[in-house]
Amino acid sequence: MTVKAALQQALGAGLDRLDAELLLAFCLVKSRTWLFTWPEHQLDADQYHHFQRLMKRRSAGEPVAYLTGTREFWSLPIRVNASTLIPRPDTETLVEAVLARMPAKAAAVADLGTGSGAIALALAHERPQWRVTAIDREPEAIALARSNAEALGLTIRIEQGDWCEPLADNSQDAIVSNPPYIDAADPHLSEGDVRFEPRSALVAAEQGMEAIRRIAEQAPAVLRKSGWLFVEHGWRQGEAVRLLLSNSGYSDVETLSDLAGNDRITLGRRPAQ
Ligand SMILES: C[S@@+](CC[C@H](N)C(=O)[O-])C[C@H]1O[C@@H](n2cnc3c(N)ncnc32)[C@H](O)[C@@H]1O
Repeated sequence: MTVKAALQQALGAGLDRLDAELLLAFCLVKSRTWLFTWPEHQLDADQYHHFQRLMKRRSAGEPVAYLTGTREFWSLPIRVNASTLIPRPDTETLVEAVLARMPAKAAAVADLGTGSGAIALALAHERPQWRVTAIDREPEAIALARSNAEALGLTIRIEQGDWCEPLADNSQDAIVSNPPYIDAADPHLSEGDVRFEPRSALVAAEQGMEAIRRIAEQAPAVLRKSGWLFVEHGWRQGEAVRLLLSNSGYSDVETLSDLAGNDRITLGRRPAQ
C-alpha cells in the first residue's frame, strides 16, 4: 500500500486528516512533509500493520499524543504518557504571560504541577539564565519531566512534592501553575481525549477550585517581595480566581484570555506581609 492510499484509507475510516498524517509519519519515522513529497512510497508489511493498529486505537478514542508518545509544545517535542496531561496550546498563553512580565535577567521561577515538564522546559528554553524548578506530586510525572529535560538538554531542578512544599521561604520571583481545575461532575470528563488522561491531572474538589485555592494560600510564603503568581484555570473560573486572589491580598490582579478569547490565566503580585 502507498502513503497516499494509507491516508485515504484512514480518512475513510473516519480519522481526522491531521491525526492520520501524524500517525502515518510516526509509523514511517518521517515528517508530515515527507508524506506529501513521497505519496507513492510503498509501506512495508511492519509499517502497514503498525499503522492499522494505531488507526484502530485512535478510532477507539485514544489521544494521538499517547499513541506517538510525543506532543509539540512551544515548538519543543515533549514526551508524554498516561501519567499526566497532554500539554495544550492554550497553556502557551501562560508561558507568554510569564516571559512578558518577568525580567529577562536572572530569576527563580517554579512550575507547580509540572506533569511532562512542558511549562518549566519552555521557560528554561527561552530564559537559560533563570533558575527553573519543576514540581509534581506524581512520581511517574516526575520521571517523565526528567526524561524530557534530559532529551532536550535543558537544565531545570525537578522535585516531587505537594505544591509549594519543596520550595524555601522567600525564594521565588514567580510561581507558575496549570493545576487540575475541572469539577468531578463536569460532563466533559467523559468526552474526547480527556477520557484517557489521569484524574489526578484534571480534577479538583470545591467545584474545581481546590488546587488553585491551595496554591494561592501557599505561594505568598515562598514568593519574594513583589513576586508574581500566574495560574491557568477554566474559562468560567476567571471571576472566582480574581476574587480569590484579591481577597487573599494579592495586588495587580488581572485575567488574560486564551487563543479563543476565553478567560484562561489569572495573575497577581504577592500580598504585602
Ligand atoms: C493539569 S496537569 C498540568 C501538567 C502540565 N503542567 C501542563 O500544563 O501540561 C496538573 C498536574 O498537577 C499535578 N498535581 C496534582 N496535585 C498536585 C499536588 N498536590 N502537588 C503537586 N502537583 C500536583 C498532577 O500530577 C498533574 O501533573
